Amino acid sequence: MNRSLRARLVFSFSILVLMVFFLFALFLYLGIERIVIQRVDETLFDKARYLSTLVKVEEGRISFTLSKIDIGEFIGPAAKSYFILRLDTGEILYKSPSLGNKEFPLNQIPGVGKVSYFTIYENGSKKRVVNYHFAKEDELFKDLSFFLPVKKYGFLLQVGRDLRLESDIIKRFIFYLITLAILALLFMALLISKMVELSLSSIKKISYKVKLISEKNLSERVDPERVDVELKELAIAINDTFDRLKMAFERQKEFISYVSHELRTPISGIKLITEIALRKKRSQEDYIRYLRDIEKSVNHLSRLVNSILLLSRMDMGREHLKMEELSLLDIIRDALHIISPIAEEKNIKIEYNIENVRFIGDKDAFLEIFVNILDNAIKYNKEKGWVKISNKGFEVVIEDSGIGIPEKDLPHVFERFYRAEASRSRKTGGTGLGLSIAYELIKRQHGDIKIESRVGEGTKVIIILPQ
Ligand SMILES: Nc1ncnc2c1ncn2[C@@H]1O[C@H](COP(=O)(O)OP(=O)(O)O)[C@@H](O)[C@H]1O
Ligand SMILES: [Mg+2]
Repeated sequence: MNRSLRARLVFSFSILVLMVFFLFALFLYLGIERIVIQRVDETLFDKARYLSTLVKVEEGRISFTLSKIDIGEFIGPAAKSYFILRLDTGEILYKSPSLGNKEFPLNQIPGVGKVSYFTIYENGSKKRVVNYHFAKEDELFKDLSFFLPVKKYGFLLQVGRDLRLESDIIKRFIFYLITLAILALLFMALLISKMVELSLSSIKKISYKVKLISEKNLSERVDPERVDVELKELAIAINDTFDRLKMAFERQKEFISYVSHELRTPISGIKLITEIALRKKRSQEDYIRYLRDIEKSVNHLSRLVNSILLLSRMDMGREHLKMEELSLLDIIRDALHIISPIAEEKNIKIEYNIENVRFIGDKDAFLEIFVNILDNAIKYNKEKGWVKISNKGFEVVIEDSGIGIPEKDLPHVFERFYRAEASRSRKTGGTGLGLSIAYELIKRQHGDIKIESRVGEGTKVIIILPQ
């Protein structure tokens, strides 16, 4: 399913607005209804009081005369007001014709002079009714009240009114409110949608720029000053990624061009030797000499290819290091075993003074590291020179009495294919990869390697073992 930020925002915001609006409408509706009912109650009470004045008692006879003006309101088929005059015992004395054969229910009768209200619902219409309880004295005995206890008559007036008009008004009001809400919601959704689009346009701009970068060239960048502040970080992150990508790309290109260049030399060497050897018939000794030359080039080629393979495996993260506990002394002894024939050939004395330590690392990797460094110490040494291996705990030092490395070359010796000028001209058969392999292997195992050197005096390689 396609996820749309805009749709999600519009949806959740609409829901929110709808909820707020619904609550608001509910409160408004309840409030308005209360006010309307209050007004209705007031008019009902006025009416009840007025009607009560029409009740007269004379010599025990109760009379109730409706004036002509009131008749229109309570009589006739279209009348919307009703009343019932009862004795406070409940007995009906008079009923407005508008009620027909219906009557109001008689629930609790309030105290004398008091009122109570109730609402009745019947077939879809609402009626509001007031109960008004009042008492009248007999007119005839009023004047004699000084001598006789005056008889009092209690009445209950129930005056009611249809709420149809008010309900209609409230219904219409709610209808307007809902219409307004829908319009507001539509407008709001449109507005949010527009706003989201506007804020996304910045991201679109960035992604357009990113497309350009990948298609055209890697030096193109997103200008972080020209995007919204909120997106500045994204722009910077993108630029960083492209910086690294570009660097990796260039390193790769450089590596390939170096590799092809380095491979060309031994291959053209072999080609040349075979051509010369085959030019005419040669003696047995000559063939052997040519084959030895070819063997040298092939050995070099094989070393080179092995190193390149190792490095590219590391680049791709395919070089699996098997971490285990290693003994420094064992590793040094293994390395010396490999390297001593070359040392003997060059008359170079190797001394070692190792206080054994154990550390965690890959055995083959450390053998490779020490062989590479010892190989250099022998190769770039003088006739009858020396190599000393010693350690202080995890810090291992390999010193030699060799030709040294010029100051300008020193910072570059860990780079791939880098060889100091003096080594290039010498026939050492180096590849320029030994130190970079050592460097990368040791960094990968969280150790460290440093090199110090003085031309003509010698070189000191310091290895910090991982702990
Ligand atoms: N012990 C050393 N004495 C003098 N120069 C050295 C020594 N170790 C390394 N170098 C210089 O550093 C360069 C890089 O070394 P390395 O990566 O092992 O390549 P190489 O295949 O040439 O030995 C060498 O070509 C050499 O110029
Ligand atoms: Mg080397």
